[in-house]
Amino acid sequence: MEETYDVQREHQKYITPLDGWQRTHTCSELTAAHVGQSVCLMGWAQYRRDHGGLIFIDLRDRQGLTQVVFSPEHSPAAHADAHILRTEYVLAVRGQVRPRPEGMTNPGLATGQIEVVVDQWKLLNTSRTTPFAIEDRVDAAETLRLQYRYLDLRRPKLARNFQLRHRAVQSVRRYLDEQGFLEIETPILTKSTPEGARDFLVPSRLSEGKFYALPQSPQIFKQLLMVAGMERYYQVVRCFRDEDLRADRQPEFTQIDCEMSFVDQEQVMAMAEGMIRRLFAETLDVALPEPFPRMTWHEAMRDYGLDKPDTRFDLKLKDVTDVVRGGGFKLFASAELVKGLRVPGGVDLSRKEIDDLTEFVKIYGAQGLAWIKLKPGGEWQSPIAKFLSDAERQGIAGRLGAQEGDILFFQAGPAVMVNTALGQLRNELGRRLGLIDPGAFNPLWVTDFPLLEWSPEDKRWVALHHPFTAPAPGHAELLTTDPGAVLSRAYDMVLNGSEIGGGSIRIHDQATQQAMFAALGMDEATARSRFGFLLQALEFGAPPHGGIAFGLDRLIMILSGSASIRDVIAFPKTQKATCLMTDAPDEVDNKQLRELHIRVREAPKD
Ligand code: AMO
Repeated sequence: MEETYDVQREHQKYITPLDGWQRTHTCSELTAAHVGQSVCLMGWAQYRRDHGGLIFIDLRDRQGLTQVVFSPEHSPAAHADAHILRTEYVLAVRGQVRPRPEGMTNPGLATGQIEVVVDQWKLLNTSRTTPFAIEDRVDAAETLRLQYRYLDLRRPKLARNFQLRHRAVQSVRRYLDEQGFLEIETPILTKSTPEGARDFLVPSRLSEGKFYALPQSPQIFKQLLMVAGMERYYQVVRCFRDEDLRADRQPEFTQIDCEMSFVDQEQVMAMAEGMIRRLFAETLDVALPEPFPRMTWHEAMRDYGLDKPDTRFDLKLKDVTDVVRGGGFKLFASAELVKGLRVPGGVDLSRKEIDDLTEFVKIYGAQGLAWIKLKPGGEWQSPIAKFLSDAERQGIAGRLGAQEGDILFFQAGPAVMVNTALGQLRNELGRRLGLIDPGAFNPLWVTDFPLLEWSPEDKRWVALHHPFTAPAPGHAELLTTDPGAVLSRAYDMVLNGSEIGGGSIRIHDQATQQAMFAALGMDEATARSRFGFLLQALEFGAPPHGGIAFGLDRLIMILSGSASIRDVIAFPKTQKATCLMTDAPDEVDNKQLRELHIRVREAPKD
């Protein structure tokens, strides 16, 4: 590294200003149709190859690559200093487009038919040797890439992701503008909004001992904009949630956030569906189904165990609780829920693979994973088969539609765990067994969610979406008598097993909102102190309203086929919510702390 650093320093004397040179084309634009034209390209040197007196550079910009040639015959002056060029040096070339010689074309490259033979060029900057190669097949650790994120972003795949993200946002903006939505910004320094995660807090200098919260979403503000008569609002907005991070979660992420007045559920869903359908048509030229299929929450949980089913493959969960109730296998006999999943014949999973899957389900709280292999000749190979009576075997086989050659998996225990573990196992099997068509896009709506769910930790009902979601027509009365039975007017949009958006019709009258807070165990005083401004606004002629918010990052992840949400966010955080490039979060000096009336204590040792 030191040596190249010196070389690079030495080369700085060659750097010249642009002096009015202007690019005529991008590095992905030139084809056989441009042969004979004089062009000017600018970008980074991807590779240098020296060949029989010729020097070849693949010049890269955010659009693509073009081969440029420095030829001693064509231009001795241009060729003379070209040997200094190194990877990632920045240059401008003026030259002629010419066809590549026979046998030298590259059909895999948009510009693979041509090359630019250089008349004149300028070195615009040098570069140290980069800590990893700027190419898609990078094997450098992600930590190193995040530390040098500006280099990582030069990789073609990431450059494409951000172009896609830009086009997607433009498509959304055009659509919403045509539909009469106003783009309105809401505060970032605000009061806590309950979306189920922990808040990021910002201490106030001017109000000692008080804190702003960064918004988990603009939920309350967009509702207030409806009270304010804005009728249709949207915002491409940053949201902040201090929660455990996963492959599709970031502590700060972007929503396409919408709210509409004078609408019911069907109108919001039609608007949202139109937006996503248009987005796919304009960015990927993909026609999504019209209308999107729908499933109730109950059906999703019954058949897929998850409220975001991946419908790109067919395996469904089957409830066998009644078949094994009180039977010979203790674990099954008294479990709240027992469900099975049939993997049709033709897949032979080894013991090692089954052990791996057992470890996998443990992530979701399972103790283990029961399995049965149906061998030819009717043998049930399984650690649990000996506990099952003939009637139970018949019942199970009948319920699951089991046949010779199949493998059956079971999970027994508390309903939430069984559904989650088996639902996630289903997705994992879909991935591992290649059951998923990588080119498929399966959107669907999940509707009829329960309004509330019981939180065993807090020992109270909590809102499944948020406390402003309206109960289904006729269900408000159940809030006091049977909270668990209340359905909501919420809807989630799911794409390929990922929740890309969620929304609801809101409560727009004060009495129902208060009843909802009461059902959540919030007394009147607490409700007033936290949401008084909302309750008050509802007293001033709030129109019926509803809306939806999409996770833009998740959407782009799916559109671009990226495995990590970090691949579609320019400067993402790690799993530990840190930024390796800037070193945030970081300590601050005592003066800043004093101004904020804050003293940092060493965390007490457990
Ligand atoms: P919700 O909490 O469902 O709804 O969020 C809407 C969508 O935002 C995305 N999302 C995330 N994406 C990345 N990282 C995260 N940590 C993260 N959390 C959520 C998901 C999700 O579907 N105010 C309501 C919307 C409404 O009711 O209108 C809300 O925020 O794709």
